Amino acid sequence: MDALRWLARKYHIEIQEMERTPEQMAEIQLSDALYIVNEFGLKHFQEQLFETDEGKSVALAYFKQRGLREDTIRAFGLGYAPEQRDLLVRRARASGHEIDLVKKVGLCSQDGSRDFFRGRVMFAIHNISGKIAAFAGRTMSSDKTIPKYINSPETEIYVKNKTLYGAFQAKKAIRQRDECLLVEGYMDVISLYQAGIENVVASSGTSLTEGQLQLIKRNTNNLKILYDGDPAGIKAALRGLDLALEQDLNVRICLLPDGHDPDSYVQTFGGEAFSKFTTDNAKDFILFKTELLVEETKGDPIRKAGLVKDIVASISKIPDPIKRSLYLKECSALMEVSEQALIGESNKLITTLLKKRDEKAARQPGAASDSPGGTPGYEWPTEPPAVGDPASVIPAFPPRREGEVMTRSDEFQERDIVRLLVQFGDQMLEKEGVSVAEFVLSDIEESLSDFDNVLYGKLAAECYQLILENKIADQNFFIHHPEKEISDLAIDLLTSPWDLSPNWEARWGYPLQNQPMPDLNFDTDMRQALYKFKLRKLKKLCEIVNPARIKTASEAEDMDEVMRLLRIQEKLKTTRNELALKTGNVVLPK
Ligand code: GTP
Ligand code: MN
Repeated sequence: MDALRWLARKYHIEIQEMERTPEQMAEIQLSDALYIVNEFGLKHFQEQLFETDEGKSVALAYFKQRGLREDTIRAFGLGYAPEQRDLLVRRARASGHEIDLVKKVGLCSQDGSRDFFRGRVMFAIHNISGKIAAFAGRTMSSDKTIPKYINSPETEIYVKNKTLYGAFQAKKAIRQRDECLLVEGYMDVISLYQAGIENVVASSGTSLTEGQLQLIKRNTNNLKILYDGDPAGIKAALRGLDLALEQDLNVRICLLPDGHDPDSYVQTFGGEAFSKFTTDNAKDFILFKTELLVEETKGDPIRKAGLVKDIVASISKIPDPIKRSLYLKECSALMEVSEQALIGESNKLITTLLKKRDEKAARQPGAASDSPGGTPGYEWPTEPPAVGDPASVIPAFPPRREGEVMTRSDEFQERDIVRLLVQFGDQMLEKEGVSVAEFVLSDIEESLSDFDNVLYGKLAAECYQLILENKIADQNFFIHHPEKEISDLAIDLLTSPWDLSPNWEARWGYPLQNQPMPDLNFDTDMRQALYKFKLRKLKKLCEIVNPARIKTASEAEDMDEVMRLLRIQEKLKTTRNELALKTGNVVLPK
């Protein structure tokens, strides 16, 4: 919302905001006020760190001794809260801050007499857009009787289970590298970031929540979790990871060598060694879990049965049926249990889950299972799979002709254009008074250079060249073409125009010409083919090419370009929808 308003202001675009209820207004005002107090807190802690003798000699020295550079210390909003009883409160008062708000964000005691953080080094906890949501304070003492960290309380602006430490600093790198590293501690995030490994966040000592996973999922599908704990701790942690599978994240696990956490590893061996180690040692989560538990339940059939159920439960959470079936296969080998048994177990679980989901949907009519963050819906089969049927976990594709390659390219549409050129290129269009070839090629002029199929592109380009020379090619020209691949293609197109793909009609919703040639109404045929072709190219621009450009531009923070591309995107979508109407295709407006 803020970004929208910012852009609108910058480009003098008036945006109409939905009327807010007084409650919503109050909520926003409160949040803004809390952020302001935290901003004050951050400034205070930073001043104490960098500009006081105590801060410099105690806290700054501590950070430096832990290997942090000054630019890192600033980038993460680190600071210092001195031992004094009420320094922050007094200064807050003096600068006109309302003490109620200072209490509310937890920077002072409830009676307003004492600072909450005292004698601790401070870590600002940013929200995803970089505002200060909370603080954590670490003691510098090694006394085990005092808590190592204390944190701000949850407030309107700090919801722990929706916050990932470091996410603000990491999000760009996570997108660029298409991977998110997850560590446990604040110091781990900071040390890795400083060593150039910037795509890292921490869950801050709790197991991952759905809200946190959604934050990750917005930027990448690949999650690599770094553990430094003991086996018991790891096992407990693994339990929470089914949630990640449900979100269809690819989860990998990497255990660090004994005695090291990410922070100590990277401070000792450097960023490159860290990257190499974690690349070499990361294991697929499900296989990792399976191996770990297999080892543990050796020679104990009862516990092993429990293990099998546990693993199958994890696998059943994976939305993608192909992935599921591959995991079942691999794990059956690892656990020495028949694949059939695993499939049966998995199908049972899926059926139960489906039922639960239906019940839930029935309870909240209108509320689809998709969460507002745009999480992909779970692609459950619409019918519960038949128990024990191995085929049921493999999705049914439409039958395919042997040798036919399933392609997402535009070749079908291109082939149809080329067929028009060969078959009717020299026919005159009555109304327009030009030939089919002229009409078609001038209509798709801009796309001529980017045909996906090289041969089709070549034929179209040659046709175009001939038109420029005022010549028109007829069927014979192509059939007797000196280049064999072109003459072969022409013959192929002329003899079996309906034989492109048996699924054509089902797939593209557009009946192919399959009438005997003399009866063809080439005018309608041509217009349909052109619409289809253009629709296809437009869809690609609109769904792939342009979004990719927008992404690049926004990563480069080139706002002018982003705005330009967004306008193009709008135009593309309008045109696409208009075209879709003409071809009788239904495109849901996005
Ligand atoms: P260092 O010991 O300075 O390296 O800190 P660390 O950030 O690596 O902490 P550690 O690995 O001990 O713990 C991981 C995370 O768990 C921390 O970053 C905190 O988020 C959380 N945590 C650890 N101890 C406490 C505690 O006593 N209280 C609270 N609230 N959180 C803690
Ligand atoms: Mn640590």
